[in-house]
Amino acid sequence: MSPKEFLSRLQEGVDKFSRRGKTKKSEWDSFAKCLLYQKGAFDSISLYSSIEKQIVKLEKKWEVTANRIFYLAVPPNSFEEIALKIGTSRLAKNKLQSRIVIEKPFGRDLESAKHLNDLLHTIFDESQIYRIDHYLGKETVQNILAFRFANVLYEPTWNRNYIDSVQITVSEQLGIENRGNYYETAGALRDMIQNHLLQLLCLIAMEPPVSFEADEVRNRKVDVLNALRKISPEEVHQCAVRGQYGPGWIQGKKVTGYRQEPDVHKQSAVETFAAVKLFIDNWRWQGVPFYLRTGKRMNETISVITIQFRPVPHQSFPSEATGNWQPNRLILNIQPCMGIRIRFQAKRPGLKMVLHPVDMQFNYDKSSASGSPEAYETLLLDIMEGDSTLFMRADQVEAAWKILMPIINSWESNPSINFPNYEAGMQGPEDAEALIAKDGHSWTVMPAGKK
Ligand code: BG6
Repeated sequence: MSPKEFLSRLQEGVDKFSRRGKTKKSEWDSFAKCLLYQKGAFDSISLYSSIEKQIVKLEKKWEVTANRIFYLAVPPNSFEEIALKIGTSRLAKNKLQSRIVIEKPFGRDLESAKHLNDLLHTIFDESQIYRIDHYLGKETVQNILAFRFANVLYEPTWNRNYIDSVQITVSEQLGIENRGNYYETAGALRDMIQNHLLQLLCLIAMEPPVSFEADEVRNRKVDVLNALRKISPEEVHQCAVRGQYGPGWIQGKKVTGYRQEPDVHKQSAVETFAAVKLFIDNWRWQGVPFYLRTGKRMNETISVITIQFRPVPHQSFPSEATGNWQPNRLILNIQPCMGIRIRFQAKRPGLKMVLHPVDMQFNYDKSSASGSPEAYETLLLDIMEGDSTLFMRADQVEAAWKILMPIINSWESNPSINFPNYEAGMQGPEDAEALIAKDGHSWTVMPAGKK
């Protein structure tokens, strides 16, 4: 692209996607004056020296030392090359003012993640490395911290004495969207569970932090990952289920199966659905199952966390009053509807004492007129301001890989013989129902219109 083409592409993007609507000419023109575009090959050292020259020139003009943020929105196999060249050309020598931002996937397994961490640490301090997990920038995900630690109401019940089980579901109607090349090297476990779902689990399970300092919050999250019960190779089939979608229907449209998607092997063994049951071996959570589930081409697009409370210890109401009785349930709706619902028992209005479950609901859209920022708005601002609270630290990424490696290894060495095992537009494979049903639970289904 020429610099001019680059600028007009940026403007088109803002016009199309910004939640604040189209750009205003005068505002865009003055902002665009600050943008420069330099094209070049990642492996050419001259690219990096010309970037250095441009920065030095700007610093003179602005009379300040610039913040240098290297945002690697590139294929993962280019991370190393670029990081090394930034290092050799000494572009990041000012440790306080230069940062590197790495998109997921961070490694393909524990070994490659460690290798990448080691390499980055030869060039950057850990405080300069921002590993993005965009789920952490979502408004509803950040609100889990507020919900848990800014209220006194839930904390006394937030433990194994009152909580029976926790479910985290991230299901998508989307398929792999022309990302066959990437997805064939990833699969649902690597693409979603290793990062987004485990991070949600950490936010639900972590101990209260002493402060909201980046490292304090991240330490509490790593504690959770380190306490996750190790899965032995023999146990994998009892606590993990995989699936792959075949052809089917989504919202009245016929869609192809995974193996028919572009750039996907005709006999691919890659999973597009994964469900995992995990336990946290600590005082708070001993014995409470955490069920995690994610899939592509599912029946609905929804990210939701369900906290299922235990039944009351003694049922004093007569059986005719409790036919419809259900234990309390707290549902954190991450997306597309954003809100929190608490289910409790109430007396059905009438002359008799009959109980039925009702929902108390908080809805973000109704409570804020200005709308919520996109996850990336939050994360990019944090990077500019040097706040790494919402980013993954090296040990967090490695601990997350460590817990999943037995499943990855087992699945890779025993490719599934029954793929595809769910139709596009369905709830995933039957085995996923069995995973949770054998413990007497079922996956949360949101009533229509209440998503
Ligand atoms: C990405 C995954 O990290 O998250 C995609 O690579 C997935 O496969 C996406 O579709 C989901 O993000 P969101 O914000 O749309 O829920």
